[in-house]
Amino acid sequence: MSPQPGRPRRSAPGKPYRRPKKDPVRILAFEALRAVDERDAYANLVLPPLLRKAREESTEARPFDARDAALATELVYGTLRRQGTYDAIIAECVDRPLREVDPPVLDVLSLGAHQLLGTRIPAHAAVSASVELARVVLGDGRAKFVNAVLRKIAADDLAGWLEKVAPPYDEDPEEHLAIVHSHPRWIVSALWDALGGGSAGIEDLLEADNERPEVTLVARPGRSTAEELMAAVGEDSALPGRWSPYAVRLTEGGEPGALDAVREGRAGVQDEGSQLVAVALANAPLEGPDERWLDGCAGPGGKAALLGALAARRGAALLAAEKQPHRAGLVERALAGNPGPYQVIAADGTRPPWRPGGFDRALVDVPCTGLGALRRRPEARWRRRPEDLAGFAPLQRELLRQALAAVRVGGVVGYATCSPHLAETRAVVEDVLKGRGGPAAEAEWIDARPLMPGVPALGDGPDVQLWPHLHGTDAMYLALLRRTA
Ligand SMILES: C[S@@+](CC[C@H](N)C(=O)[O-])C[C@H]1O[C@@H](n2cnc3c(N)ncnc32)[C@H](O)[C@@H]1O
Repeated sequence: MSPQPGRPRRSAPGKPYRRPKKDPVRILAFEALRAVDERDAYANLVLPPLLRKAREESTEARPFDARDAALATELVYGTLRRQGTYDAIIAECVDRPLREVDPPVLDVLSLGAHQLLGTRIPAHAAVSASVELARVVLGDGRAKFVNAVLRKIAADDLAGWLEKVAPPYDEDPEEHLAIVHSHPRWIVSALWDALGGGSAGIEDLLEADNERPEVTLVARPGRSTAEELMAAVGEDSALPGRWSPYAVRLTEGGEPGALDAVREGRAGVQDEGSQLVAVALANAPLEGPDERWLDGCAGPGGKAALLGALAARRGAALLAAEKQPHRAGLVERALAGNPGPYQVIAADGTRPPWRPGGFDRALVDVPCTGLGALRRRPEARWRRRPEDLAGFAPLQRELLRQALAAVRVGGVVGYATCSPHLAETRAVVEDVLKGRGGPAAEAEWIDARPLMPGVPALGDGPDVQLWPHLHGTDAMYLALLRRTA
């Protein structure tokens, strides 16, 4: 019978038993990976309470400081992002299919592989820290296995391993890119199609998905300014937005929640791509009244808060609708203190309670696969399945149809996704315009590109696709339509 994990056991004759060293950073990273693996948890939700607990349990003898927190975060995010690459390498170093390796053992191996191949931690330290972790969380027997596998991995660097485990680009470009840049093959294929199929950009895009995004703030107009935020953050740690006049980028990360303007709701955390979408909808040319605005998929409320502030400046009122009541609560919080009139309701945008034709502008930022925000959710790429697209499409079409019905003739609708997948972007809009899967909508395209002044590489229009590698934003998509009849 194998000994129980963690229980001291008799050592080999002549070798005194040594208790494993407990390393709070690696144990925390392992616990986070287990939660993501076992409970389908989100890393960005699991980590903060684990970090808080580690800080609370910190003692003088065993401190847990900001550097430990940064290392634990990097180990978790990096391991999850590069999981596809590390799996291919680990598979070369074990004598059985990966699915037959116990998931907790695989997590320790992946963490070790990341330290060896994706960080500057010296190889001997990466191996010994991983073996100590394995002794604590798996037991001595499995620690020996971990030691043997990681020693094999340590025999080469990442470039050397990739030459061995990825097929040459010329033989199978998609599989090559999938392994080298750690994305599921179907996502490589979809992103490549969305980029237009040429070789330009795909590697930069895949690598941009593997970078941690900057934290960006939005100064809600009429409530705070980018200058105020820059001054509060400190000029050394902040830069103005690249494209949005309301954006401030935090170059040192930091804690946005500690800023007065964020605590008071006058500013928020918001990617510049989302800011551009809200601003473009607000500035789209419109004849006649401009008094009633709708956000039909508002939760958790980032775009609604910016739209609310922009609407207030123009004397317009915003109705923010969200199907999930608890998310409608988040919208309510995001809009609290909005300087102009607004209302938040829990409502299904496919069976809307509002009067048709009653709005001048409407946004539907529809539920989607989120393939445009892979850099924020390190585990998301491994959870999504191509089948998910088929589930979203009818809902996306119906939400757009209802948004077009909600605006008056001449009114403007913005259809947005945080995914560049063609099946969720252009195809949905064309289906609605051409009457596939429902009656044809009476609407025409508005060129969205001039509504993002100064933003380069916006393609041939009339819709706009933003990209992490070109614009430093999430891959947000925006189509603008005008109701014609
Ligand atoms: C991509 S998110 C919107 C993000 C939001 N615009 C923001 O900037 O914070 C899509 C939202 O649509 C909501 N939703 C899903 N189905 C819906 C429906 N039938 N009617 C209204 N909202 C819906 C989801 O619950 C989710 O909160």
